[in-house]
Amino acid sequence: MYEITDTHAHYDDEAFDSDRDALLLSLKDKGIGRVINVGASMRGCRDSYKLSEKYPFVYAALGVHPSETAELSEEDMEWILEKSRDPKVVAIGEIGLDYHFPDDPSPEHQKKWFARQIALAQQAGLPLVIHSRDAEKDTADVLSSEHAEKCGGVMHCYSYSKESTRDFLNLGLYFGIGGVLTFKNGRKLKEAVEYLPMDRILLETDCPYLAPEPYRGKRNCSLYLPNVVAVLSEIKKLPEEEVIRITTENAKRLFALGD
Ligand code: NI
Repeated sequence: MYEITDTHAHYDDEAFDSDRDALLLSLKDKGIGRVINVGASMRGCRDSYKLSEKYPFVYAALGVHPSETAELSEEDMEWILEKSRDPKVVAIGEIGLDYHFPDDPSPEHQKKWFARQIALAQQAGLPLVIHSRDAEKDTADVLSSEHAEKCGGVMHCYSYSKESTRDFLNLGLYFGIGGVLTFKNGRKLKEAVEYLPMDRILLETDCPYLAPEPYRGKRNCSLYLPNVVAVLSEIKKLPEEEVIRITTENAKRLFALGD
């Protein structure tokens, strides 16, 4: 029996303060074999690292989300680089561009730190976890000008159209798919997923956010991933077991996860 890999979770979030340990310890018995906990702020990076030290099945991605880059410094980059030597640190992220709220911070500022953290990933020899919202063209431009194909990575919570997948496929990237795939208004994403090759798809929750149906609006966690697997299996016309096997193989390949 194959185990699900949740490639994007935020168990450091305060939404899990009341039951974090119990919940994480329950995952294995419910078929969730591995979790990558992703930092978004420097505090989130430190907490992700601590979780990866505490639990053998939790890995860490370290990086700073575009909306959290206002006070980012070179000392922070040094801290991430030093920790990235630890084999439990498997990616740099989430990093990227988010133009949803204009000038928060400015696009120029975001692009500077996106490029800086891609360089950091190349130095560390780790793949990228990319956050991109309402910034499709600039994201593709920065990724290609900074040669992101050298380190590879995943477009986390992929939300662009089928037509746009080509640029990101050409860069060798993977696509993180989660709860949004189960939403009734998720047609655009369903079309993109139909088009994507199965060997580029990863499962992710982005928990505590984006719980799949029928839990939409509630606190998300890795235990709801079978609901995403069910929809993916319908779209790809593959047995659920096969969806789990392939997505876990993909995650192990991209992030060099152990058995
Ligand atoms: Ni996230």
